Parts: sequence; C-alpha cells; structure tokens
Amino acid sequence: MTPLPPAPLSVLIIGCGNMGAAIAGGAVANIPTVSITAVDPDVEKARKLLPSHSAVDVVAEFDELRDRHFDVCIVSVKPQHVETVLQTAQPSLPNALVISIAAGIPLERLQASIPNLRRLVRVMPNLPALAATAMSVGFAEQDAVSEADRRIVEEIFGAIGQFCWLTKETEIDLATGVTGSGPGYVFAFAEYLQDAAQRLGFSRELAAKFARQTVIGAARLLEQDTRTAHDLKVAVTSPGGTTAAGLSVLEAQNALPSLLIKTTLAAADRAVELGKIQ
Ligand SMILES: NC(=O)c1ccc[n+]([C@@H]2O[C@H](COP(=O)([O-])OP(=O)(O)OC[C@H]3O[C@@H](n4cnc5c(N)ncnc54)[C@H](OP(=O)(O)O)[C@@H]3O)[C@@H](O)[C@H]2O)c1
Repeated sequence: MTPLPPAPLSVLIIGCGNMGAAIAGGAVANIPTVSITAVDPDVEKARKLLPSHSAVDVVAEFDELRDRHFDVCIVSVKPQHVETVLQTAQPSLPNALVISIAAGIPLERLQASIPNLRRLVRVMPNLPALAATAMSVGFAEQDAVSEADRRIVEEIFGAIGQFCWLTKETEIDLATGVTGSGPGYVFAFAEYLQDAAQRLGFSRELAAKFARQTVIGAARLLEQDTRTAHDLKVAVTSPGGTTAAGLSVLEAQNALPSLLIKTTLAAADRAVELGKIQ
C-alpha cells in the first residue's frame, strides 16, 4: 500500500472508548500527517485508554470544537448513539469523510440522519485493535467515495492491523459474525480449555497459564508459518496419537464445525437486528 501524500489530515473521533482510543493511538503513531481530536464525555477515562503521551486532543463536548472543521470523522460510540452524535457534530463536518464503526447500522440509516453527508464508509474492526492486530473490513458505495478516500480508510485501519474492502454492504454484517465477534469465540475457547485443564486436576493458575499460552502459541505460529490452519492441524496430528483422539471429539457431528456455523450465523443475524432497532 502506498503511503498517503504528506498533506495534513485532521481527524475527529467521536467516542474515545476501547475502539476509538485504539484507532486514535494507532493512527497518531503510524501516520505522520494526522492530527486527532477526540470527543468523549469522560475525558479522564479516554486519556487512560489512549497510549501514554499520545498526541491526541480530547474534549468533553462538541461545544469545545467551536468552528473547527475536520477532514475525517470516525464515529465510535455505541450503535444507539450514532445518529444523535452525527447530528450534533454536523457543523464540524461540512465536507468530511465519515467512517462509522458501529455494529449493524446501515449506510442508508446514517445517510438519513444527515442527508447532506456524502462521503460515508462503514468499517467493522475487532477488539485486537487494542494490540494493533485487528482484522477490519470496510464498505462504501462506489460513487460515494474517491480513491483518495479509500486510501485514507486503508491507512487509518492499516495502522491498527489488517484491513480489506468488501463488495456488498450485507457482507459487513456477515463479517461481523466472523471477525467482529470472532475474538469473543477465541476467548471462550481459551476459557473452556482452562476449565477442562482444571477438571483434569491442574490448579486454576496453572490451567489459566496452559490455556493462555497454548492459544497465543498457536496464533503466533499461524501468523508466522505460511501453512494454512488445516495444514498446521494435520502437521500436529499423528495418526492414532493424542491430538487425533482429542480432535475425534472436537470434530464429531454437531461438534465444533457445525457449532461455529451456527455461532457465526447467530452473530450476523444479531448485527442485522441491531441495525433495525431505532
Ligand atoms: N468493542 C469491539 O470489539 C467492537 C468491534 C467492532 C465494532 N465496535 C463498535 O465500536 C463502537 C464503540 O465500541 P466500544 O467497544 O469502543 O465502546 P465503548 O468502549 O463503550 O466506547 C464508546 C465511547 O463513546 C462514549 N460516548 C457516549 N456517548 C457519547 C457522545 N454523545 N459523544 C461522544 N462520546 C460518547 C462513551 O462514553 P461513556 O462510556 O461515558 O458512555 C465511550 O467512552 C460500537 O458502535 C461498536 O458496535 C466495537
């Protein structure tokens, strides 16, 4: 990806919670031309979530922005607050590129909340943004954004992990069921691996260490090795061995493979439902 041209880029982040702070921290650390202002009612909490000494200006209220205008606005409040904050921020965004990361809220609904906003993008990041290892996906209507806008989105979300564009908006909700909620599934897996280790008689501390490091180690290998997840699984499974015995349970009918299909569908359906709740 070619870097952005060295033009200053002013970014307004609305809602500096877990996601807003991770995006702000990643952007100021990796994009030299960016300047970031965040609005969040709890300035102290927002500052604690931001990396220490990061050059992000945090204000508690929109009034403090006075007549300032921004090139880009990232909306990272909870879905039920998105439309209200966009309406309040409107005077600061006369021609801004607006990026919403709110789960489930369709572009059409964002558009309806501020009819004169044109350059609208939906992005779905995930919680590993906190460790700059997010998987983010984005969608924008073809004629709503320019190539330069797309580069800005790629640069900002590339600063907190990996980013890719989707070709249909409905895919954002589907991806939410996989990547957005996916870290929760992996944490659940680690939790149940710990529980299982405790059932085998290990102390809570040792079981937690076993589960955590096993998941971290396998994820690191997946990152560093060019083999697919399937190939790595086959490599670790000797016929008739211990992993094969374990996998015969995990991969049985109605076990993990079909459970994950149901799991991702349930999350994707919920993303669609959230978009319909006013
Ligand atoms: N967390 C994830 O894994 C994840 C993944 C993908 C997408 N998302 C999306 O990202 C968005 C934010 O999620 P999050 O986990 O970062 O939530 P969060 O930690 O609760 O952050 C939201 C922040 O917005 C603040 N806020 C509330 N009302 C505001 C207002 N009127 N103006 C400015 N700021 C306001 C909140 O303050 P208070 O706490 O004081 O209310 C909070 O600090 C959501 O729409 C979610 O769907 C989250």
